[in-house]
Amino acid sequence: MIQTHSRIPGYDYGTERTAHSPLTLEDLHEMEQTVGWTRGDEKALKKAGAVLREQAEAMVDSWRAQIAKQPYLAKWFYGRDGRPDDAYKAAVKKRFVQWVIDTCTRPHDQEWLDYQEEIGLRHTPAKKNEAEHAHTPNVVPFRYLLAFAGPVILGVKEFLARGGASETEVERMHEAWSKSVLLQLALWSRAYVAPDLW
Ligand code: HEM
Repeated sequence: MIQTHSRIPGYDYGTERTAHSPLTLEDLHEMEQTVGWTRGDEKALKKAGAVLREQAEAMVDSWRAQIAKQPYLAKWFYGRDGRPDDAYKAAVKKRFVQWVIDTCTRPHDQEWLDYQEEIGLRHTPAKKNEAEHAHTPNVVPFRYLLAFAGPVILGVKEFLARGGASETEVERMHEAWSKSVLLQLALWSRAYVAPDLW
């Protein structure tokens, strides 16, 4: 059973502990248009949420299994002793599961925009390890973040298909999911890119 978000440690969505995005909602709208985001995508993602909610943990498990098989990815979860920090992994996992649900259900408002800034920072020295006071490496290099869009975008289709929707509906939900992940990664890149180049 998925915990309600208010009880997930370190999940600071909509609180004053979360970073502020340097973007305005108008800037966000331009980003949405750039990725091709429409009201239709918003609706399709809501439907996807109904299918994915109960599967969110299984989805994260599938991505985690891929990371575990690739030592150059797994190491970003290792403690000082060079072994997986299981407490850290477990804590982060809950927030990752919540992210699947948030991606489908949260409106693209100021709180959403601010939490995108926060998630980006949590992959960098600015905030990685902060929530758990962990001692894992202090950055996930951006090239891995971006490349992992492969599994996160493509891998979701089989989960969407399990909801009993038609092939066309699954395609539509998948398109919306893909756009949202790309949009979020573009926003997360803020934490890595020099301001005058971003
Ligand atoms: C499309 C790719 C990715 C997505 C969608 C994603 C998503 C997330 C989310 C939602 C969180 C939790 C944010 C929160 O605290 O609320 C998170 C944290 C984290 N992610 Fe990623 N991630 C991606 C790529 C990666 C990769 C490739 C790695 C390394 C193998 C990685 C390692 C981590 C770590 C270590 C944390 C915990 C950061 C902390 O200390 O708080 N992520 N990620």
